Amino acid sequence: MYLKTKSTYLYLPILFSFVLLFETRLSEGTNVIAIGQTLSGNKTIVSKEGTFELGFFTPGKSRNYYIGIWYKDFANKTVVWVANRNHPISNPFHSELKLFPNGNLALLNEARIQIWSSNSTAKKHNSTLAILLDNGNFVTRDSQESANIIWQSFDYPTDTWLPGGGKIGYNKLKKENIYLSSWRNAEDPAPGLFSFEVETNGTAHMLLYNRTKRYWYSGEWTGTSFVLAPEIQRNPYISNFGYFSSANESKFTYDTDNPKTLTRFMIDKTGQYRQFAWRESFPERRWVANWLRPEQCEVPNVCGAFATCNQLKAPSCTCLQGYEPRVSKNWDLGDYTDGCIKRAFKCGVGGEEDTFLSIKATRFSFQDTGDSLSLDVESDKECKSACLRNCSCTAYVFDGDKCVVWIGEVYNLQQLGPDDKRGGVFRVRIKKSGKGSKISVWIVVGAVGGFFAFLGMVTVAILQLRKWKVGKYNGSAGDLVLFKYKDIKKSTKDFSEKLGEGGFGAVFRGSLPDSRAIAVKRLKNSKQGEKQFRAEVSTIGQIQHINLVRLQGFCIEGEKRLLVFDYMKNGSLENHLFRQNSNVFLEWKARYNIMIGTARGLNYLHEKCRDCIIHCDIKPDNILLDDEYNAKVADFGLAKLLGREFSRVLTTIRGTRGYLAPEWISGEAITVKADVFSYGKLLFEIISGRRNMELLDDGDYFPALVAKKLSEGEEGVMQFLDQKLQGVADPSEVLRACRVACWCIQDDEKNRPSMGLVIQFLEGIIEIEIPPFPRFLHGFTKDTADHTIVFHQWTSETTSSSS
Ligand SMILES: *[C@@H]1O[C@H](CO)[C@@H](O)[C@H](O)[C@H]1NC(C)=O
Ligand SMILES: *[C@@H]1O[C@H](CO)[C@@H](O)[C@H](O)[C@H]1NC(C)=O
Ligand SMILES: *[C@@H]1O[C@H](CO)[C@@H](O)[C@H](O)[C@H]1NC(C)=O
Ligand SMILES: *[C@@H]1O[C@H](CO)[C@@H](O)[C@H](O)[C@H]1NC(C)=O
Ligand SMILES: *[C@@H]1O[C@H](CO)[C@@H](O)[C@H](O)[C@H]1NC(C)=O
Ligand SMILES: *[C@@H]1O[C@H](CO)[C@@H](O)[C@H](O)[C@H]1NC(C)=O
Ligand SMILES: *[C@@H]1O[C@H](CO)[C@@H](O)[C@H](O)[C@H]1NC(C)=O
Ligand SMILES: *[C@@H]1O[C@H](CO)[C@@H](O)[C@H](O)[C@H]1NC(C)=O
Repeated sequence: MYLKTKSTYLYLPILFSFVLLFETRLSEGTNVIAIGQTLSGNKTIVSKEGTFELGFFTPGKSRNYYIGIWYKDFANKTVVWVANRNHPISNPFHSELKLFPNGNLALLNEARIQIWSSNSTAKKHNSTLAILLDNGNFVTRDSQESANIIWQSFDYPTDTWLPGGGKIGYNKLKKENIYLSSWRNAEDPAPGLFSFEVETNGTAHMLLYNRTKRYWYSGEWTGTSFVLAPEIQRNPYISNFGYFSSANESKFTYDTDNPKTLTRFMIDKTGQYRQFAWRESFPERRWVANWLRPEQCEVPNVCGAFATCNQLKAPSCTCLQGYEPRVSKNWDLGDYTDGCIKRAFKCGVGGEEDTFLSIKATRFSFQDTGDSLSLDVESDKECKSACLRNCSCTAYVFDGDKCVVWIGEVYNLQQLGPDDKRGGVFRVRIKKSGKGSKISVWIVVGAVGGFFAFLGMVTVAILQLRKWKVGKYNGSAGDLVLFKYKDIKKSTKDFSEKLGEGGFGAVFRGSLPDSRAIAVKRLKNSKQGEKQFRAEVSTIGQIQHINLVRLQGFCIEGEKRLLVFDYMKNGSLENHLFRQNSNVFLEWKARYNIMIGTARGLNYLHEKCRDCIIHCDIKPDNILLDDEYNAKVADFGLAKLLGREFSRVLTTIRGTRGYLAPEWISGEAITVKADVFSYGKLLFEIISGRRNMELLDDGDYFPALVAKKLSEGEEGVMQFLDQKLQGVADPSEVLRACRVACWCIQDDEKNRPSMGLVIQFLEGIIEIEIPPFPRFLHGFTKDTADHTIVFHQWTSETTSSSS
């Protein structure tokens, strides 16, 4: 229902007829596609001398396929040209490259839709051929030997400039540049940030661009060499390098010096322009870069924000300490331009929480490292505190008489060797609790003294705990602690520090004698007998998972029922999403982690526990965040604990109604899919940072709007992103999250995915299709938006079926 399976067996008959048809037409090892013939599946054509091969390929571990040209017989595919670089297909056996009678070459995808075409028409019909030549050029022409070229791949290079006819320049007929553009990353040949172009204004010259800015310039072409890059001419592997201008085009071309030496120019995904030659035996068969410009760290923004570039290292880019790649998938594939972020942005009141990390031997300039300000202060200390005072200040430098502070993102930091005099000390703001430069000192001191101190502390703590608690509760509960009421009262300072108030009771902060913080929930409405209470508590106590809040113990004295949990430092998700006045907000990456973590916790409850547990009350208030902003689901199992009271509690809790599945109202049996529904509603809030209950300005209901826009892809859903994020999010993740959310809130519980599937969707392991529009969202208007549920229809039976 939700997945696009990779191999659709339905299509097998078609596939076979295809292959058969094909076999009779394209002979093995041919270099030609004739009219009406198709190239499909794993079939290829090979140039006459066997140098190049053309067919479908898939870059790296990507699941996308492209038509491309590569050197035949190399262990590692070196792709020199890609046809459909912007429009991948997913199944080459159901797609075909076809030469039509009018001379047009087209790529048809699985749905027989033309996704790429040469747009060419031959004058003479029926006789056109598409030929892969030995210089790597793919041409359509009148006949095998005809000089009349109708279309050629050399007019549309991707990231590689080949010798023997490959060109870079200007097409005067079409008024188009013929230029190279980098692949986005190792698995995506779509045009990346960098391009290599030729400009002519009187004289010709070559340039590298990052879309907006020129970052390398060859100098003028004098007719024999470039003024600023004469090395190209001295290169032993190339000859006949020259500039030619005719009525139709102007271009640079070159030849290889020795026809047996393979050579190529290309623009790398990290913005470097390189010339390679193939070495047959030095010391192994491989490509050797003979020439490259500019140096890696001179490519502007190559490492993105909050990263340093090191010329001598591979990979060159490293996130600053305390930062991590913003889009780790791209980072792993060699595209660093998204840069790095702090996991969750936090700026303490007055900045006391923050400190600075000193990065020595850092080269930076004041122009292209981001927004900087010079301040008129006298000392390092003043410079530092000026930066601390403003939450937007991310770094400062004080060089003896000048104080410069950076506002917002910092770019183009270059890490130099320790003795390099060009660098200075650059100070980047980090969280005090984060890993600072003092850590190494700590380790030394800590290792010696720490061990004994630790031993001592543990002993004291154990002794105190022994004294403190009544004893371990010896049910099947394992390690649950049975607390005395008076101890809990003391540890919570007489219930003075209230953390929150839910339907089941209020939660208070406390601390154990070993100073571990705890959260104590004082249950109200619990009318259960002691035996049953103990039984239920021991069940809950056995449930332990990294994404579930752990029950440490409980207290039962007379009417009093208390539960003691691990304390979660970062409070509830609700705080982080909706507190307007806080300057703490969750970055997209943290939010996505929370979505996956919550799904894991729920999946554990639904499928991995001995008795399946339905949470029944999933909402942001019940998702707690630990020190590292990992999600921990709280309040599970309480439905059972409270018995029949539960349904009454649920309906009276403010805020819960918005998350309830329709079956709660219709009176149908409640299954784990009711949690899936609430989880879907929760996702909408995490994405948008707004409560589902709030209507949009035009009176629309948010989930309904998302469901409507889902078909518009990544662009369609980015508008729903929380404005606090300012568009900083991986669009593919946002789209995935929106689709998952809409699948989860399907009317029919059978159509909702299990939490296990949700995890796989979010992790991108399984593709997810566009969900149908949930019926109950139809006609959602101002009047119906807050789920004006007819609560009195509820009966306590609904609850008994929930546990
Ligand atoms: C090409 O695909 C066919 C059909 O799936 C398969 O039987 C054959 O082994 C493949 N050939 C190669 C060289 O991968
Ligand atoms: C063919 O024409 C379409 C539509 O004008 C255009 O998008 C596409 O880039 C063209 N293909 C080539 C290879 O120029
Ligand atoms: C060329 O195509 C026309 C129709 O498009 C057909 O009648 C004719 O037989 C074809 N000629 C050859 C040589 O295939
Ligand atoms: C041509 O363009 C280059 C780079 O943009 C510039 O440096 C040079 O001065 C220009 N020459 C003329 C004659 O305009
Ligand atoms: C220039 O283009 C025209 C029209 O396509 C063509 O007839 C002519 O042969 C071309 N000239 C050269 C030198 O390629
Ligand atoms: C082929 O690629 C692998 C993995 O990237 C690399 O380790 C190996 O050295 C490459 N081989 C050649 C001949 O370039
Ligand atoms: C190109 O580099 C300049 C800095 O030299 C930077 O300001 C600009 O944002 C970059 N362009 C893109 C598209 O990243
Ligand atoms: C921080 O500095 C920036 C740039 O000077 C300024 O626009 C902003 O208002 C300052 N913020 C605070 C809280 O002072």
